[in-house]
Amino acid sequence: MITLENITKTYGGKTQVHALKGISLAIEDGEIFGIIGKSGAGKSTLVRCINMLEKPTSGKVIIDDKELTAMNDSQLRAERKNIGMIFQHFNLLSSRTVFDNIAFPLELIGASKEGIQKKVADLLELVGLTDRQFNYPSQLSGGQKQRVGIARALASDPKILLCDEATSALDPQTTKSILELLKDINKRMGITIIIITHEMAVVKAICNRVAVIEGGVIKEEGRVVDVFTNPTSQTMKDFVKSVINMELPEGVAKMGVTDQPAPDRDMLVRLRFKGAVTNDPVVASIVRKFDVNVSVLYGNIDYIQDEPFGYLIIVIIGDMELQAKAFQYIKKLPIGSEVLGYVPRNN
Ligand SMILES: Nc1ncnc2c1ncn2[C@@H]1O[C@H](COP(=O)(O)OP(=O)(O)O)[C@@H](O)[C@H]1O
Ligand SMILES: [Mg+2]
Repeated sequence: MITLENITKTYGGKTQVHALKGISLAIEDGEIFGIIGKSGAGKSTLVRCINMLEKPTSGKVIIDDKELTAMNDSQLRAERKNIGMIFQHFNLLSSRTVFDNIAFPLELIGASKEGIQKKVADLLELVGLTDRQFNYPSQLSGGQKQRVGIARALASDPKILLCDEATSALDPQTTKSILELLKDINKRMGITIIIITHEMAVVKAICNRVAVIEGGVIKEEGRVVDVFTNPTSQTMKDFVKSVINMELPEGVAKMGVTDQPAPDRDMLVRLRFKGAVTNDPVVASIVRKFDVNVSVLYGNIDYIQDEPFGYLIIVIIGDMELQAKAFQYIKKLPIGSEVLGYVPRNN
């Protein structure tokens, strides 16, 4: 478990930069935790505080009951073996082969030649680069370079892997394969992974939970499915919007939506589903229970990893009072719902 308690980081100099302004987070063992934010939000500073490459100005970093912020340099060096890190620009040594890049951290801790040979062979296999072991970084694609970065980060058998924009320099297809590799490593080895990113698609693809950071402050955090179906902060709403469209379809907006009900208007409702709830029974039961008609204007189903979630925009057509009653009924169902407004009745 990683616990951050009220971390602040102020960079000195004439004009001080308050990069982190009191960050508290608890990250469970074995989870894939996303930290998303725009450029300059404080993500890299935060992730560097976790392994103490950057010393927080105040606050505590606690990993498995050990307070890193209270350790001296040699204690920290020992503790850092439990924390691997990968970077946007891979940070490989250009004069070393793939094999020797992965072997590097093992050489530093004085591992035996046989030990290194065996460990690096295993890691090469894990990241699928056995046939590239004698190549130099300049002979590799971006995705292959990041695989080397991952293998090197895993060489010391860390319990935690920090990924700072690890896929930001890669194309979408390569990003997908790297994220799959990370997910596989998390599953097979139980390594806790922290993903720093500015892309919501990355969070959607592999994270269990996510926190959104802006101006050195966590604006919102939660399970990825919950955050996607019901973002509360404007920052998270904006990120969610970048991957799924929650806006009213243009055609609906053009119908002339008003705030107030009227005898010649019908109720426009948005339903949000998550998990295995399907939308058909909801619509059918409204029609059955109340003397109204329902027309479905727009539907969208998507998946967060394996969990389905979706939106449905419906019009409840009928007597004003019955519309309101039908909505009261929908409100009690275990789905998200909101009245978007009222549209002219289509005779
Ligand atoms: N070494 C540094 N010295 C001074 N300011 C810094 C330093 N590193 C980062 N900053 C500032 O801290 C803020 C957060 O930066 P950073 O953590 O790199 O954000 P992100 O990774 O989200 O883009 C920015 O305003 C940045 O300019
Ligand atoms: Mg950064």
